[in-house]
Amino acid sequence: MKERLIIFDTTMRDGEQSPGASMTREEKIRIARQLERMRVDVIEAGFAASSPGDFDAVYAVAGIIKDGIVCSLARANDRDIERAAAAIKPAKQGRIHTFIATSPIHMEKKLRMTPEQVLTEAVNAVRFARKFTDDVEFSPEDAGRSEIDFLCRILDAVIKEGARTVNIPDTVGYTVPEQFGSLIRRLRERIPDSDKVIWSVHCHNDLGMAVANSLAAVMNGARQVECTINGLGERAGNAALEEIVMAVRTRQDVFPCDTRIDATQIVPASRLVSGITGFPVQPNKAIVGANAFAHEAGIHQDGVLKSRETYEIMRAQDVGWSANKLVLGKHSGRTAFKQRLKELGIELESDDAYNAAFQRFKDLADKKHEIFDEDLHALVSGEAEAAAGERWRLVSIQQASGTNERPHAEIVLSETGAERRAASEGDGPVDATFKAIESVTKSGAELMLYSVNAVTQGTESQGEVTVRLSKGGRVVNGVGADTDIVVASAKAYVNALNKLQSKIERINPQL
Ligand code: KIV
Ligand code: ZN
Repeated sequence: MKERLIIFDTTMRDGEQSPGASMTREEKIRIARQLERMRVDVIEAGFAASSPGDFDAVYAVAGIIKDGIVCSLARANDRDIERAAAAIKPAKQGRIHTFIATSPIHMEKKLRMTPEQVLTEAVNAVRFARKFTDDVEFSPEDAGRSEIDFLCRILDAVIKEGARTVNIPDTVGYTVPEQFGSLIRRLRERIPDSDKVIWSVHCHNDLGMAVANSLAAVMNGARQVECTINGLGERAGNAALEEIVMAVRTRQDVFPCDTRIDATQIVPASRLVSGITGFPVQPNKAIVGANAFAHEAGIHQDGVLKSRETYEIMRAQDVGWSANKLVLGKHSGRTAFKQRLKELGIELESDDAYNAAFQRFKDLADKKHEIFDEDLHALVSGEAEAAAGERWRLVSIQQASGTNERPHAEIVLSETGAERRAASEGDGPVDATFKAIESVTKSGAELMLYSVNAVTQGTESQGEVTVRLSKGGRVVNGVGADTDIVVASAKAYVNALNKLQSKIERINPQL
């Protein structure tokens, strides 16, 4: 029997720290259910002390996960730890993950603390967290740029205080595989009780080495990897879960351990996270990119047809590519619809929400004969918030464009119930649509990113549009799906405006 490599997913915490990737409580519940289906060992559901919304989301996830540990991040102080403890209270198995920076630059410039003070805070934090749970994880932030002697002292001290997992973050993605692997080996050799704890790593991808660094650590004794779906995360992201899992599984000849992940859930998880966050997956992304198993060159196609192993080291269906199955059609009834949503982990808040979603499903089935799981996710993404009393709602859009015709759009929005309309011309149909929306809403937001992706295959697929808006330092991603990509664009823009508005209201409640 090989040793277990623990998969710690931080899509909903570190992943959420990507600009615009914030998730609602309902979205986190959907992701958490998918992670559980995938058999992730630890789900870091958020940073409970960071906002009431994050607290609620961690609390809700803790209440639903039956198989796996639910974790909240906490800085090394009593308030954060108390909030984390309260948020994970409903969990069958809960973990508090506390951290403090240990690199000279972070201690001096950010914390303005001496190493001795940092050590005292770390020990106090672990001791305090242990009052709430036996499962405490400690991270010396920016370990990749910390001094090894100091790391040994602080890790030895927190292990003595009862930390069960010690996590070594390469916070700024600075290390290289050989060096990082050797750091893990040396720490394990030097710290007396190192065999009593799980060694974990948490690598960022600033130099494109997050996965390589994590795997080098695994070769040197790490038995937990912190990672995210699609490699989402701060700046260039974190190590991608799908790459870690499939590298270890595919190369069992070199790795001394394996995960318990159900890899067939990887592609559905990737699609779900991409749809919710509005971060598209690049086509050539390993494992989950649209081209990951596509063989274009004739010589490759010929080889694959003769024997798949000539050019393929994994099977597409083993990572869930064939999970894209036809699920419902025009004649499917309300019960089948509700049942499939349930199987996908989608639970709507009220009968009204189910009725509205069922109506949208019927409308879609009229336009598109085959409805796939991805369509159902797209159908509820963004729309779930519409039900929650947002300021703007798209009522209708008409637009005309063509060769020798200046694109023109007419839009009707409802502003908390009252209809508002405007028309505009633009350089293209999407430009005209966004200008018309702006002339009603006058948000003044800056469009940072616009992208369209097909939700499924074929020309009748829904287009899923992501719109990233920024205003006053706040960045949000809006998503919208429709078989008409201009309508999808309008939905995405309105969705982003509502998110921007609710972010502003959270910061400035009198608005
Ligand atoms: O990157 C980092 O150092 C972190 C820690 C909080 C673990 O995310
Ligand atoms: Zn991180």
